[in-house]
Amino acid sequence: MKYNSQKVAYIFFATCIGLLFLQIIYGFIMGFAHMGFDGLHDVIPFNAARATHTNLLVVWLLTGFMGASYYIIPEEADRELFSVKLAYVQWASLVLVGVVAVAGFHLGWWEGRKFLEIPRPLDYLVVVNVLMFIFNVGYTALKGRRFTTTGLVLLAGLVSAALLYLPGMIYFDSQVLDSYFRWWVVHLWVEGVWELIMGSLLSFLLIKLTGVDREVIEKWLYVIVGITFLSGILGTGHHYYWIGTPKYWLMVGGVFSALEPLAFLGMAIYAVAMMRRGGRRHPNRVALFWTVGCGILSFVGAGFLGFAHTLPQVNLYTHGTLVTAMHGHLAFWGAYATIVFGMIAYTLPELTGRKLYSGWMPEWAFWTSNIGMLGMTGALAVAGVAQVYLERRMGMDFLAAQKAVEVHFFGMILAASLFTVGIVLFAINFIQHGLPVSEATVSSTREPEPEPPSTPAMARSV
Ligand code: HEM
Ligand code: HEM
Ligand SMILES: [Fe+2]
Repeated sequence: MKYNSQKVAYIFFATCIGLLFLQIIYGFIMGFAHMGFDGLHDVIPFNAARATHTNLLVVWLLTGFMGASYYIIPEEADRELFSVKLAYVQWASLVLVGVVAVAGFHLGWWEGRKFLEIPRPLDYLVVVNVLMFIFNVGYTALKGRRFTTTGLVLLAGLVSAALLYLPGMIYFDSQVLDSYFRWWVVHLWVEGVWELIMGSLLSFLLIKLTGVDREVIEKWLYVIVGITFLSGILGTGHHYYWIGTPKYWLMVGGVFSALEPLAFLGMAIYAVAMMRRGGRRHPNRVALFWTVGCGILSFVGAGFLGFAHTLPQVNLYTHGTLVTAMHGHLAFWGAYATIVFGMIAYTLPELTGRKLYSGWMPEWAFWTSNIGMLGMTGALAVAGVAQVYLERRMGMDFLAAQKAVEVHFFGMILAASLFTVGIVLFAINFIQHGLPVSEATVSSTREPEPEPPSTPAMARSV
């Protein structure tokens, strides 16, 4: 940690983990409901549990991105954050909006638009919150002593994510138009601007952890950003097949979304290649695990499993089934949750001055959570394919098909339990680090100046 103001990241990361636990609880409620044990139905009906589960996911990821930005932007801009106080106020208002939204879902105050269930009045609070955040990091970057590609891509991702929230706030009488613009938020976030955020976090972590030159890492970041936009923007068409939009979207959506995995493949190759190229091993091995894990799993969950149902010929059958849920889990986990975990794993020892990254616990947290999530994805895949076959090919009634796949949710719950063990271990490790220290630990964390070739690579530290 170079600047004391970077400490503000800690509270965002702590909140992040807390909200993930809450999300997991609602996941289990739905998992049991899918097995036929829906005892909580009268208190927490499936729709409320689902909205809470997915919105908490989005909120904790955004909280993680914000924490990451409060850490990265001062470091990349080479100055303190514009206002630490404003950052804490922004954090408090974010928590407030989250609590009101979740309580609202349980009281029936929601909009039945998947992922955008937060009622419009609350959206205005979200806008105020995000403006506070963007102003704080944006001003810091503008007044900074340097402007790096990593910082620029991160800022571009954050600002465009904020702008893309707006189309989801417009009122339409038409269901088609409402759906059309809903995807500008949902799709253009996860398959567009969030990828910029992910790419910049990857780049930051790779610079810190592998020792490869910044120039090399940032050059490839541009290439990835290019491929992302080339495929991702028109790739939105894969959500326009069956919502009442013109027929040409079948072709446009099919072709461009089929190219989207290339951006994720690029990120996987990027992370692995930089890791192999790095002559230096940072002692925080587990942070590198999460970083490279993100590259690889984002390709598997988003790229490979996204491609599996993106062509209209396939999507005709899989649309809105558990196949979608299968892809949704590994894509969100592989691309965005792992990079937030990578940021936490890297920054926590820097923030607290306690280097608790070795030992069995952080590594077991990594392996059990990832293997658990792969298991959940597998169980959902089997359930999803069975559902598609029974319901869409054989014409079985929706509820009868759901009953037939109940058994697969037993497997899912087992895998989810393994996953949860990993998250508990991660949280224990987080708590063991204690609170951030007040003095910035400058010496141990400065990005190394280029050193004469005679210096042994292993002797340097980040
Ligand atoms: C990290 C990136 C990604 C994330 C987080 C993600 C997540 C999701 C989620 C949550 C849904 C369900 C949305 C809803 O119904 O409201 C979805 C749908 C979909 N995704 Fe992705 N996705 C990602 C990347 C991709 C990619 C690269 C492709 C294609 C190659 C893809 C193809 C699809 C398709 C075709 C659907 C529609 C499924 C249906 O018709 O029910 N996704 N994705
Ligand atoms: C660990 C315990 C978890 C369990 C038991 C669980 C279970 C579920 C269930 C049963 C659904 C509803 C599927 C349906 O609509 O029928 C769901 C939805 C979803 N969950 Fe989870 N989940 C868990 C954790 C997670 C995590 C960690 C993530 C992300 C990183 C996640 C992402 C999602 C997404 C994106 C959806 C919506 C999928 C769609 O659009 O179809 N879940 N989850
Ligand atoms: Fe999409």
